[in-house]
Amino acid sequence: MTETGEAAVGSKIAIIGTGYVGLTTGACLAHLGHTVVCADVVQAKVDSLSKGEVPILEAGLDELVAEGIAAGRLSFVMGAKNAVTEAEFVYLCLPTPQGADGAADLSYIQSAAAEIGPHVLADAVVINKSTVPVGSVGEVEKALGRPDVHVVSNPEFLREGTAVQDFLHPDRVVIGGRDEGAAKRVGDLYAKLEAPTLVTDPASAETIKYASNAFLATKISFVNAIAAVCEAVGADVADVVEGMGFDTRIGSAFLNPGPGWGGSCFPKDSHALVRIAENAGYTFGLLRAVVAVNEEQFGRVANKVSRLAGGSLEGKTVAVWGVTFKALTDDLRDSPALNIIARLREQGATIRAYDPSDQDPSDARLAGIELVADPLEAATGADVLAVLTEWPEFAEVDLGRLAEVIGAKNVVDARNLLDRDDLKARGFTYEGIGRS
Ligand code: UDX
Repeated sequence: MTETGEAAVGSKIAIIGTGYVGLTTGACLAHLGHTVVCADVVQAKVDSLSKGEVPILEAGLDELVAEGIAAGRLSFVMGAKNAVTEAEFVYLCLPTPQGADGAADLSYIQSAAAEIGPHVLADAVVINKSTVPVGSVGEVEKALGRPDVHVVSNPEFLREGTAVQDFLHPDRVVIGGRDEGAAKRVGDLYAKLEAPTLVTDPASAETIKYASNAFLATKISFVNAIAAVCEAVGADVADVVEGMGFDTRIGSAFLNPGPGWGGSCFPKDSHALVRIAENAGYTFGLLRAVVAVNEEQFGRVANKVSRLAGGSLEGKTVAVWGVTFKALTDDLRDSPALNIIARLREQGATIRAYDPSDQDPSDARLAGIELVADPLEAATGADVLAVLTEWPEFAEVDLGRLAEVIGAKNVVDARNLLDRDDLKARGFTYEGIGRS
């Protein structure tokens, strides 16, 4: 609620970029009662979105897009300048890919800011929603060339697969702006969420985003390293994590050992933060180690597969369950599964994979992988089964049928998802993560 107590009246908002972040942000802001115009640069994408066709797998997003279009609060146009003509707020939701040197590439953000500069309304607020390096608010101000337009940082904390839930039920809203009035105006957009809101300076807001992702990646690399210790000393990582998690200072969330972390954020953001620190004169040794442990984890999983195949993968067939970077998403970007598959193929393995998400077999990232339509078909005749993502349906597969169809009873369960005791009782050799 605003200070005067009435519900925030809908504002006019432009969203530049309709990817995972932009489309979710636009649909959710329309759901909150704002009028939202989303811009992209691909006509086919604008046309399909205008018909309510959502190209990404995000729980609840289809419904919100349909709701917004039906209510006349959500529309899609070609070109950023056509979206901003009446907008009081302009969200920049554009890619900030990792450059060759590890730093984030701001060119998309800068060119969008330059494009809208002549068209954006006086006193509008431009909002950096994408994850951008510290100091980007200043970069956008320069590219805009509009001293009468405010720029703030409002980082997103959306997880793929639960982005709608994360947007509508945030742990916090963070706003970084030099102009307190502009920051408060942005905060009011989220009034209905009644979430804790932190208003700070731009550099702190931008750093909160990177530090949060880097810490989460650290937590995962830590538990993966502890899993390696567990294997060496004969402990069970599941019990170790449970015992740790009771300590409220540690918590059990994000302590699931696995094949390593991936996706469109952690790898990009951890490399970017190392670069940001270095450029500012600090060598971030801890985060470098977190990245190194993650790379090691891919190798550890690949070695488990090779070991169960008898020490060599030459001429062997490996069944893989899951190619996306995690369950409940269709995203292959920086997928640990694909990194591990590449290592297996380098050692001569043939890969037959099943993934519940709807993948395009012609996607170059899936080259050399035989995609099949069923987990048991993937396992038929295989020398080893590798479970690389934690899709819930994998835990439902009939292990009796698996025992019948698999070529050799070997399972590397990189998500500790399957019933180890049941598999062992059926004569399988089982290798989990951190479970001797
Ligand atoms: C992450 C952050 O969680 C989110 O706040 C930020 O806005 C964007 O980046 P996302 O990349 O969608 O979200 O995925 P996330 O659920 O965080 O998982 C990242 C990687 O860590 C995945 O590869 C996942 O499999 C792995 N992971 C996660 C683990 O290995 N163990 C865990 O316990 C949790």
